Formats: sequence, C-alpha cells, structure tokens
Amino acid sequence: MRPTSALVAAGALVSGASAAENYLGFNSGATFADRSAKFKKDWIAEFKTAQGLENAPGKFNAVRLYTNIQAYSESNPIEAFDAAVETNTKILLGIWTSGTDSIDKEITALKKAIDKHGEKFTKLVIGMSIGSEDLYRDSETGVKNEAGIGAGPDVVVKFINQFKKEVADTDLKDVPIGHVDTWDAWTNSTNKAVIDAVDWVGVDEYPYYEGGKGNDIKNSGTLFDRAFNAVKGAVGDKPIWVTETGWPATGPNWDQAEASVKNAKYYWDEIGCRQLFNKVPTFWYNLRDSNPDNKMKFAITENLSTSPLFDLTCPTKFDTPTSTPSTGAPSSTGVSGPTSSATGGPGSSDGNGTNAGAQTGSEDSSEDPADSGAYVGKSLSAAAVVSLAFVAGVFTLF
Ligand SMILES: *[C@@H]1O[C@H](CO)[C@@H](O)[C@H](O)[C@H]1NC(C)=O
Ligand SMILES: *[C@@H]1O[C@H](CO)[C@@H](O)[C@H](O)[C@H]1NC(C)=O
Ligand SMILES: *[C@@H]1O[C@H](CO)[C@@H](O)[C@H](O)[C@H]1NC(C)=O
Repeated sequence: MRPTSALVAAGALVSGASAAENYLGFNSGATFADRSAKFKKDWIAEFKTAQGLENAPGKFNAVRLYTNIQAYSESNPIEAFDAAVETNTKILLGIWTSGTDSIDKEITALKKAIDKHGEKFTKLVIGMSIGSEDLYRDSETGVKNEAGIGAGPDVVVKFINQFKKEVADTDLKDVPIGHVDTWDAWTNSTNKAVIDAVDWVGVDEYPYYEGGKGNDIKNSGTLFDRAFNAVKGAVGDKPIWVTETGWPATGPNWDQAEASVKNAKYYWDEIGCRQLFNKVPTFWYNLRDSNPDNKMKFAITENLSTSPLFDLTCPTKFDTPTSTPSTGAPSSTGVSGPTSSATGGPGSSDGNGTNAGAQTGSEDSSEDPADSGAYVGKSLSAAAVVSLAFVAGVFTLF
C-alpha cells in the first residue's frame, strides 16, 4: 500500500464524514454475469485482488453487498461474509426494501452469520444500507423511466426502525445505518424523513449517464461536483458515502459520453482521486461486472488481475475547476444513479429465481425515458440480487 498522506493533504475534504473512516471498496453482486451464484472462493478471489491492486491510492479492503442472503437459498448468509472474515475485508451490508413488506429473511440470514462468526464478523461490518434507490424509482422521473417498483420514505423509515429493533440485542446494535439513493432523491424535501432517520447518506452518481447535460468525459468532474454539492446542501451534517460511481471502459456511447479505458482512467483521476479517495467513504463501480444485460462494462480490471486496465496512480493536478458547495437545491435537471428494477417479485422472476430484467440502470432521471431504457442493467444490482431473496421462498426447492 502506498502512502496516502500527500493525497489527503492535496484537497479539501468534501464530505462531512469526519468521524468515519474513509473506506475504500467496490460493489459486489451475489451472482455472476451468467446469473450463477458466487461462493466463498469467488469472493476470496475478489477481495484479494481488491487489496492487491497495483498502484492503488489506498487499500481497497471494503465491499458493498446488496443482500445478506446467499443466492438461491432461502435465508442462508451470503458466503461473502465467510470470505470477508478470512481476508479481513470490511463490509457495508445492504437490505432490499422495495416491493416487499418484509425484511425478515434478510435479518434471519444476518443473525445466522452473527451466530456463526461472532465478533470476527461483526467487527468487520461498517454500515448497513436499508434500501437502494427506492425513492428514485418512486419519483416522477423513476416512474417515467419505468425504473421498477420503488418505495416511499415511509416504507424506508419503517424498515430502518424494524432493523434497529431486530439488532438491538446483537453486536450490530451500533452499526451506522444509511440509505442509498440518487442525488435528486436526497434533494427532494418530501424524503426528508429518511435523512432524519439515517446516520449517513449513500449517493450513487454516474455523470456518464447524464445525457443532455454535456456529459463529455471532460465535464464529468463538474457534473459530479454539482450533484454531490446539491446533496451536501440537502442533508445538513449527515456524512455522505459515495456508494456507486465509475465510468465504463467498454460499451456504447451515451450522448456525449464515450466508454473507453482512457476515459475510465480520466474519471478515476478526476472523481476518485480529486474528490473521493481517502476523503469520503467510497465504493467504486466496479471490480467485476455481473450484469449480463448491461452493455457498458465498468470493471477496472480483467479476470481479477491485480494489474488493472489503467494505472491507478493518482495525479497531483486536476482538470476540473473548483466549485463551491451549493446550499440550496439545484435545478432539477436530474441525475440519478443506476437503478434497479425491482420488478423484483416472484412474478418477474425467471425460472432461476433471478430477475432477468433487473437493474434497469437509470442514471438520467431527466428528460428522455427512451434514453434511460437503454441502460437497462448496468449492474446486477440490488434489484437483481435482491430479487433472488424475494423469490427464494418460491424457488427454494430447485
Ligand atoms: C419527491 O418524493 C416523493 C416521495 O418519495 C415522490 O412521490 C415525488 O414524486 C418526488 N418528486 C419528484 C419531482 O420526483
Ligand atoms: C480473461 O479470461 C478469458 C476467459 O478465460 C480469456 O479469454 C481472456 O483472454 C482473459 N483476459 C486476460 C487479460 O487474461
Ligand atoms: C438459468 O441460468 C442458466 C445459467 O446459469 C441459464 O443457462 C438458463 O437459461 C437459466 N434459466 C432460465 C429459465 O432463465
């Protein structure tokens, strides 16, 4: 691991997360691109690669998971937990909250993991996200974009409260609870109850998908900052975690945005190095692609090689002009994170218990619904993964 002090000194902190450690990690779905389940050995390989990445600007020893449940099981703990214990990887947990009135199986799986590993597991848990982009999917733009089933602030808050009760007598009773959503969900004042209910605010941001807003790679830093500062203005002093961000190395263009290794490197530098790494808890998208439905590929390396597609070394100078944090809500030209479909009930599932249409990633909560339809499936995201959980009861026998 390289020294990071110079980098830390290089820029002002952009988040209020002063108390929290500025975790570095990747997102990780429960299944592979062929929708088959990942097992312990697969996560061990991911976590070892993440920690061993050449020239990384810090140690990527955290992971964001979307579910506690092992793929295709009823309520067995996801084997990523075993791999995390073995590789000393920190875990941001996630629970799906759209299209369901119960998170009981998620909690059952989590409690089984606590029983199995005890403190070896609980000490690695850095946070819990109750929900992922539920508010976006339930928003006007989410509905227009057919982003899938969402949930309102009342539902998210209800599950946050339930989760707190359920873990009150466990070692996870003090785990910082957050919710992950798109920036314009956080700036929508109707959702304020969620801000009030969480310990930290998770934001997914993809300038790549901001069609119609000048999403050329050279403008990605400015677009990122605009959305990030809008969230800062809306959430007060709640710490912000960037739970997904990245730029595809291959795939079709998106308005002015081009997927290329060169641009993925530029984005890494201008957004990751300049604004996030060692300054804000960050879960990059991504180490390994898992959504077959998305033509854009975000993995920063091939076949889990520790030699990435581009040099991860951070530069000392940046292109993006410095912007000042806004205090008010931005004009809602709308960026949103990738979303997930959560058409995710049993009804939408294919015979494997997966939600084939899952993760209709919608970045652009703006104008053109046709646009957003095109990025169906950026990742096998929460939706897909969680739909596994939803349907587990139905397909548990196969
Ligand atoms: C604001 O949030 C509420 C509740 O989540 C949602 O119903 C509404 O559609 C959102 N507003 C816009 C403009 O999307
Ligand atoms: C990655 O693995 C695939 C399948 O085994 C192989 O075709 C490809 O050449 C590998 N890429 C690299 C860079 O090793
Ligand atoms: C189940 O998944 C396998 C790949 O893991 C795929 O070949 C098969 O078509 C899937 N079944 C259905 C019904 O989608």
